[in-house]
Amino acid sequence: MAVPFDAFGASAPLADQLAGRFGRRRDEALPHAISSFAIHLHALVRELQPSRDEWRSFMSLLRDIGDYSHDRRDEWMLASDLLGISALVEDINNRRPAGATPNTPRGPFYRSDVPLLPLGSDICLDGKGEPLYVRGQVVDLQGTPITSAEVTTWQANALGFYENQQPDDQPEFNLRGRFVTDKAGHFHYRTIRPSGYPVPLDGPAGELLKRAGLPPRRPAHLQFHVAAAGFETITTHLFDADDPHLASDPLFAVKPELVKPFRRGDGRHELECTFVMVRTPEEISR
Ligand SMILES: [Fe+2]
Repeated sequence: MAVPFDAFGASAPLADQLAGRFGRRRDEALPHAISSFAIHLHALVRELQPSRDEWRSFMSLLRDIGDYSHDRRDEWMLASDLLGISALVEDINNRRPAGATPNTPRGPFYRSDVPLLPLGSDICLDGKGEPLYVRGQVVDLQGTPITSAEVTTWQANALGFYENQQPDDQPEFNLRGRFVTDKAGHFHYRTIRPSGYPVPLDGPAGELLKRAGLPPRRPAHLQFHVAAAGFETITTHLFDADDPHLASDPLFAVKPELVKPFRRGDGRHELECTFVMVRTPEEISR
């Protein structure tokens, strides 16, 4: 009869031993998650059967991702984005009914300190780019307009750069704005048509993308943060329907309902959009 080696079952298969050791504290979320992560990793290693050298090079990649990160560059977050994990976490945390505007990863260029502007303002402060007029409405699931919702927008310029990537070339708050919806839930502003842009390729996460032969370019988009009392905050993108890179967004943020024409039949650039908000659970139970 097999005699257990120790209380954690050292004679059991490795993954079971691991679960026994790290999974004991179910009240502690982190060791529990790490144990689950490691068990999946055991399964992966059994599947891949790496040589010692192959395993070392995998570990080196993980180390390089950490080494490349600093205060203004989170290479691990970029890796999470490029592997679709960030989009998955968004989906899990924002299960919304059909018809509601979905969330997408916020990305690294958001600023919360954007000044409030009057409706109709032009957020392009350097006059560079093809003019685009944006007209939108914020409503609830029944289509009732939401008054006084706060709509914050940010976008890249015509060369694919955000203002905080080019503090010497673009005015502060260029192509950013914060608006409050009117009585009919409407907002509108003037801007320019954004360009798509590549994700950073200079670090190990980008290297991974290159080695996989995947295009780094994000399709052109506007980004939005929509907040209203009693409703779940929306953080999302609207993508230019004419962009050829919609099917290969390296951040996995493109969803059919977020793709909109940025150009009208007469060639002028105009975008019409509706954000559909969901009441918070506290609000529903009132
Ligand atoms: Fe973006």
